[in-house]
Amino acid sequence: MNAVETKRLTSADVETAAAIIRSGGLLGIPTETVYGLGADGLNQEAVHAIFRAKGRPQDNPLILHVPGTEWLERYCENIPDKAYDLTEKFWPGPLTLILPRKPQVPDAVTAGLPTVGMRCPACEVTRLVIQKADTPIAAPSGNTSGRPSPTSAQDMLEDMDGKIDAILDDGPCSVGVESTILDLTVTPPRLLRPGGVTLEELEEVLGEVAVDDAVRRLMAPGEQPKAPGMKYRHYAPKAPVTVVKGDPDMTAGYIVARMGEKSGVICFDEFKGYFRGHPVEPIGPVHDQAEQARRIFDALRAFDHLEVTDIWAQSPTDDGIGLAVTNRLNKAAGFHIIEV
Ligand code: TXA
Ligand code: MG
Repeated sequence: MNAVETKRLTSADVETAAAIIRSGGLLGIPTETVYGLGADGLNQEAVHAIFRAKGRPQDNPLILHVPGTEWLERYCENIPDKAYDLTEKFWPGPLTLILPRKPQVPDAVTAGLPTVGMRCPACEVTRLVIQKADTPIAAPSGNTSGRPSPTSAQDMLEDMDGKIDAILDDGPCSVGVESTILDLTVTPPRLLRPGGVTLEELEEVLGEVAVDDAVRRLMAPGEQPKAPGMKYRHYAPKAPVTVVKGDPDMTAGYIVARMGEKSGVICFDEFKGYFRGHPVEPIGPVHDQAEQARRIFDALRAFDHLEVTDIWAQSPTDDGIGLAVTNRLNKAAGFHIIEV
C-alpha cells in the first residue's frame, strides 16, 4: 500500500470521517474500550485493506460496529430474546454479541464463519459517524497485529501513521480493555473474551454463562479457540513478561528477590517504591480495578521505549473487570505465571 498522510480529525469532523468510510478508506475510530481501525463493513475491498494495514491473519474475523439495536436485524438472523435483554442493559457499551449472520455480511468480515460479532460502542461521535456513513463499521483494535491495543489516538498513530487516511481523536479511552465477547449461538451462552462488561454482570441477566478455555489458559498447538483471535500471542511487549500471582505484599517481595539488573516491573501504585533503580509502570491502586484496566495496555507499551531485558508483573485479582485485565496480562506473558 502507498503511504498516505494520516489526518487528525476531531468530533467537529463527523462529515469528513463519514465520507472516508463511504469512499472505502481507513479511519481510526475512538471507542470507550480501545481505538479501532475502521472501514465500511459491507465493502470487501475496504475490509481487505484493514487486514493489510494491521498485518492481521486472514482467519481472524472482525466486529461490526452499529449505532443501535435497530441495526441488528439488518445483519443477523435467528436473534434470540436473550440478545435483546443484553442490548437493553449493556448497549451502547463494551459488549460484543456473536450471532448468526445474514448473507450480506461479506466473508472478509467473518473470515467465512456463519456468525458475526456485533457491537454498539458507547462513544457518541463514533455512533454519529456510522449513522452518517449509513453503513456498519468493521473494526479490529487499531494496533499492528500482536501489539498491545491502543487506548489513545497517539498510541494508535504509533502503529498506523501513514497507513490510514485519518484518525478521529476523542481523547483517552474510558474502559481501556477491549469489549466482552459473548457467543449467543450456543447454550449456555459462552464468554469468549472477558472485557468491560463483567462475567458477573452477564450472569445476572442470563443465569449460567460458560467460560471458554482460551480465557484462562494457553491454547495447545492445533487447538482452536472459539474466538479465532484468542489463539495468537497478543498484547505483547518486546521483552518477555512473567506474571506473579498472590497477595500483593508477597508478590512484591518475590519480584524484588528475583529481578535482574535490567528488569522492568508492572506493579500496583502502593508498591512503586519497592523497585528503586528499575523502570516501573504502576497500573493503579490494589483495589481500583477500573484504573488497572485503563492503564494495563499503556504499561505494556511503555516498556518498548525502555531498555529492559524482562518484565515482572504483580497480578490483579480476576473478579469483575479484573478477569479482563489478568487475561490481557497473562496473554502478554504467554501464560508464564508464578503463584506465590
Ligand atoms: O472493544 C473492542 O471489541 C474493540 C473495539 C475497536 O471495538 N475491537 C476489537 O476487535 O477488540 P479485535 O478484532 O481486536 O478483536 C475481536 C475478537 C477477535 O479475537 C476475533 O477472533 C473475535 O473477536 N471474533 C470476531 N468475530 C467473531 C465470530 N464471528 N466468532 C467468534 N469470534 C469472533
Ligand atoms: Mg485486537
